[in-house]
Amino acid sequence: MALVARLWHFLPLGRGTVLGLRLLMGASGSRGRCGLWRLRGFEVMGNPGTFKRGLLFSALSYLGFETYQVISQAAVVHATAKVEEILEQADYLYESGETEKLYRLLISYKESEDAELLWRLARASRDIAQLSRTSEEEKKRLVYEALEYAKRALEKNESSFAAHKWYAICISDVGDYEGIKVKIANAYIIKEHFEKAIELNPKDATSIHLMGIWCYTFAEMPWYQRKIAKMLFATPPNSTYEEALSYFHRAEQVDPNFYSKNLLLLGKTYLKIQNRKLAAFWLLKAKDYPAHTEEDKQIQTEAAQLLTSFSVKN
Ligand SMILES: *[C@@H]1O[C@H](CO)[C@@H](O)[C@H](O)[C@H]1NC(C)=O
Ligand SMILES: *[C@@H]1O[C@H](CO)[C@@H](O)[C@H](O)[C@H]1NC(C)=O
Repeated sequence: MALVARLWHFLPLGRGTVLGLRLLMGASGSRGRCGLWRLRGFEVMGNPGTFKRGLLFSALSYLGFETYQVISQAAVVHATAKVEEILEQADYLYESGETEKLYRLLISYKESEDAELLWRLARASRDIAQLSRTSEEEKKRLVYEALEYAKRALEKNESSFAAHKWYAICISDVGDYEGIKVKIANAYIIKEHFEKAIELNPKDATSIHLMGIWCYTFAEMPWYQRKIAKMLFATPPNSTYEEALSYFHRAEQVDPNFYSKNLLLLGKTYLKIQNRKLAAFWLLKAKDYPAHTEEDKQIQTEAAQLLTSFSVKN
């Protein structure tokens, strides 16, 4: 029931590649922390405990407070600019497929309070987990770490659609290491967060596609799993192929041809409901989709196989 196998080239992209030059400024990473450190130092200096009480002190502390405010406002502005800069670097690396560099960049900000940064770190962690050279042990650690970052992203900003989306994806990933009861319980949570992501950003085709995958997975759930689910939960998660189709179509409407797998799933779902004509239509589109990634190639192959297998039966 692993809902999403590989999503590494997923959106949102957004920021342009023009920003590549910023990469050369990698060393600027220490500036922000230095600023914060100085700020803390100032607070300590302004600590009244070591001074005599009285006018002198209150004048000092007043001054101290004023200065502190000025500095802290400056620090906030600086910190915001700083995060923007990191996000630009991160998006450039993501678009260039520099998975490891991206992870190294973002992991150095893992204490960040910024939701935008944290969900990107979650995504980067699971991307590393999925590299073929990552050991099984590492993989497990990374997958759970990714979930932690996504969770924190969500805590920091409940209105970030990407935080909801990646939280759902990361929960789905840890399902591989959990028992059936946790997996089923997680299915409700996954659905809730994909729905929220779609509500917050109805233009995000990938969230809509993933909701379609969710429906397909539960429509397809074999009877024995359904039986187990029924024993464990009063209302086990379920869905229909029709519901899955509505999401895949909606994703296609929002962003036509955005993802080879959406085309394949449209074809496969139509096959499930015995509509061969429409199945053939979408499978052909999936087969002819220009392959940019390893996954696209696998999808081309699968679509071609499905097409031959049911044209033989005809
Ligand atoms: C949370 O995310 C939304 C959508 O991306 C954004 O408009 C808003 O400013 C963010 N809020 C905070 C506190 O960062
Ligand atoms: C799916 O769930 C709904 C709501 O819990 C329920 O009414 C319906 O009977 C279920 N369908 C199947 C096929 O289990």
